[in-house]
Amino acid sequence: MIYPRIVAHRCGGALAPENTLAGLRIAARLGCRGVEFDAMLSADGVPVLIHDETLERTTDGRGEVAGHSLAELRRLDAGSRHAPAFRGEPLPTLEEALRLCEDRGLWANVEIKPSAGRERETGTAVARLLASCWNGHGVVSSFSEPALQAARTCLPEAPFALLVAAPPDDWLFRLRRLGCVALHCSADHGLAVAAQAAAVGVPVACYTTNDRNEGERLLAAGVAAVCTDRPDLWRPEEM
Ligand code: G3P
Ligand code: MG
Repeated sequence: MIYPRIVAHRCGGALAPENTLAGLRIAARLGCRGVEFDAMLSADGVPVLIHDETLERTTDGRGEVAGHSLAELRRLDAGSRHAPAFRGEPLPTLEEALRLCEDRGLWANVEIKPSAGRERETGTAVARLLASCWNGHGVVSSFSEPALQAARTCLPEAPFALLVAAPPDDWLFRLRRLGCVALHCSADHGLAVAAQAAAVGVPVACYTTNDRNEGERLLAAGVAAVCTDRPDLWRPEEM
């Protein structure tokens, strides 16, 4: 799996409402080759794009994502909180996001983001959907090891990444045990882990830096990709 150098965080980073199709369109328009987004389950088990377990920060809804059916989530406005110009932007399904990525040629980091207590269920549902409609252009990651385990069982051939804030001392052991091929970690820890990961042939991707100089330092140190809210700081040919 080849990483793009620059990955737009939560679809279009800070330039669009996070985890929306508008964000994917903006990322593509900027010349991004790669995007990252978060997949969580609705009450009725459909993977949708959203980061928080609750609706308030990014939508006009209230309460838990896991307490709303897909039909209820589809009625929400996921754009206005970002800017009035995005009013009415829907909360997308993972399937819609994958199809748009395919249409625009975007590499996708699908982050499995289970709500509490739904780790394995979310891993399984995301993997089943990926098996049915994903072109495989990207990588699947999660902070949740049970979600990764469940997803890998359904989708053994796909590339998976272990996602951590700070790599624990036994990160390589965990990565191998989970059948992951890459490590995703916080940008604060990228420089420390890059050489060790390179020595064992494991690509590292770092989240989230909005400072071009820091991003370039990480890439120069051997980090494969940096995830950013500011993909506009790079020219298309640099991404
Ligand atoms: O996958 C990288 C990054 O998105 C992880 O953090 O909280 O923004 O999903 P978060
Ligand atoms: Mg994420």
